[in-house]
Amino acid sequence: MLEPPGSPASPASPSVLPNPLREGLAEERVPEPAVMVIFGASGDLAHRKLLPALYSLTRDRLLPARFAIVGFARRAVSDDAFREEMRAACNEFARRRPIDAALWSAFARNIFYHQGEYEDLASFLSLRQRLGDIERDLGLHGNRVFYLATPPSSFASVIRSLGQAELAPRPPPPTAPRPAGPPPPFARVIIEKPFGTDLETARALNRDIHETLDERQIYRIDHYLGKETVQNLVVFRFANGIFEPIWNNRFVDHVQITGAESIGVEGRGGYFEQAGSMRDMVQNHLLQVLSLFAMEPPVTFDADAVRDEKLKVLKALRTIPESDFEQHVVRAQYTAGSIGGQAVPGYRQEPNVSPSSTTETFVALKLHIDSWRWAGVPFYLRSGKRLPKRVTEIAVYFKEAPHLLFGRRGESIRPNVLAIRIQPDEGIALNFGSKLPGPTMEIAPVSMEFRYGSSFGVEPPEAYERLILDCLLGDSTLFTRADEVEASWTWVSRIHRRWAEEAADGRSRLDSYPAGSWGPPSVRTMIVGASPPGSGRTWITASWPW
Ligand code: NDP
Ligand code: BG6
Repeated sequence: MLEPPGSPASPASPSVLPNPLREGLAEERVPEPAVMVIFGASGDLAHRKLLPALYSLTRDRLLPARFAIVGFARRAVSDDAFREEMRAACNEFARRRPIDAALWSAFARNIFYHQGEYEDLASFLSLRQRLGDIERDLGLHGNRVFYLATPPSSFASVIRSLGQAELAPRPPPPTAPRPAGPPPPFARVIIEKPFGTDLETARALNRDIHETLDERQIYRIDHYLGKETVQNLVVFRFANGIFEPIWNNRFVDHVQITGAESIGVEGRGGYFEQAGSMRDMVQNHLLQVLSLFAMEPPVTFDADAVRDEKLKVLKALRTIPESDFEQHVVRAQYTAGSIGGQAVPGYRQEPNVSPSSTTETFVALKLHIDSWRWAGVPFYLRSGKRLPKRVTEIAVYFKEAPHLLFGRRGESIRPNVLAIRIQPDEGIALNFGSKLPGPTMEIAPVSMEFRYGSSFGVEPPEAYERLILDCLLGDSTLFTRADEVEASWTWVSRIHRRWAEEAADGRSRLDSYPAGSWGPPSVRTMIVGASPPGSGRTWITASWPW
């Protein structure tokens, strides 16, 4: 059993610093004692992200004093062998390495492994028995989190089996009178992505899981919402009085949201062939970032108040006009090229990818939000693999000054741009024109910058750390609700339907770009070509600073 921090048996903790990035975002709360079952414990996600995140939370003393982890997968391995595997994974992937030996041995004592099959009810009945034993031995009270790090095709069947084995009882209705004494134990379920592959499958999955679970028990992961910089969007907008008044169509010319990656499909060719960039990055991560960026101020920072506002943005996305589709949507695939001086193959040469694949590895979209605040402001979203560098950012281009006082010299004035750098080099920069020192009125662009690293002296925690902790705390603000997922699929599925129609008619258009470039030329035309001269709409290449 893990001892409470500071107790005599607690391992000496190597200089655990308070995390300033957490300050002001949420009150420090300690979760109730609980057990977390990880379905898919021998998989890639569990190794690279989940166990390292749980270890980091322990190291930062953010997990409850009494906490256990049960890994569930098909392979037959002993508890000890599983612990060793997880130790190696944490040593390779934890945020702070090497791991601390004393801390690890206390942490590992409460890690267990349960062999089972998702399709086999007996495996869930034996899991129930095992959880009961562990809870009795460790003095836990029956609080359980089930993490579905399973192939998406198993989400519904695992949840059904949890219900059949009576492992995930529904909580009492919110209106039920609170009984005297401690609250009943909770059962929460974290569901990995992708949540459906289109509107119909997402709806069907929601229907299936609601047969067993109440929406309040469901935590759909979008790991972008766990990123500090994405959460900071809300703080930036609503904790500072000066930005909200200019966050609208009176001041903003357009917004560019970029999710660029230099990596390719990294051995996930089979999955990516079915997904493409639209499903892999846009439907979830970029639309979530967009909805936080564009939402109205919520009345409170409660989960439902925030998600209600995000939902309104997703519902206000204008359908891409049929007649003007190509001016609004660009899809492309990378060919062979080079990144950082290294030659890399084209997408069609990647393992498990068809040599005639038409899956997009790049997508750029021009969209509008039909709301009072954003009427007339184009939003450009782009995401791609094998671009020159990894950069996720939001660039807000402001309108020009209404009258230029500086004659010809004023022509060199660039628009003010607020760049919110989500990763890497997390921070925010504001670009504006300044007088060049000297006797003339020459103007040059300069930048004011805030960087997390230099301001706080710490690196932001991993998204999975925050999300696991929030689930243990019962806070679903940073998880997507059923109606949000369906609203984003509603919009995205219309684009997929159009692509399918074009493919059926032989009109399919797929551009190409060499790996290591910023996408096909058609993308530049989407912004620059459509802009009036001097509007400042350049297709920036997300460099820092400009
Ligand atoms: P893996 O294929 O690496 O792991 C799948 C896991 O599920 C393994 O532990 C496997 O166990 C287990 N499993 C599969 N079928 C069964 C079954 N019938 N019964 C019992 N156990 C079974 O997947 P990943 O870890 O990569 O992905 C897991 C989830 O996370 C997916 O939904 C994915 O989309 C999502 N995800 C993953 C990311 C990543 O970087 N890996 C990123 C974002 C999301 P065994 O080894 O015993 O066969
Ligand atoms: C995942 C996608 O959801 O997000 C991957 O499946 C992508 O294809 C990844 O590489 C990007 O996440 P991050 O945190 O590295 O930006």
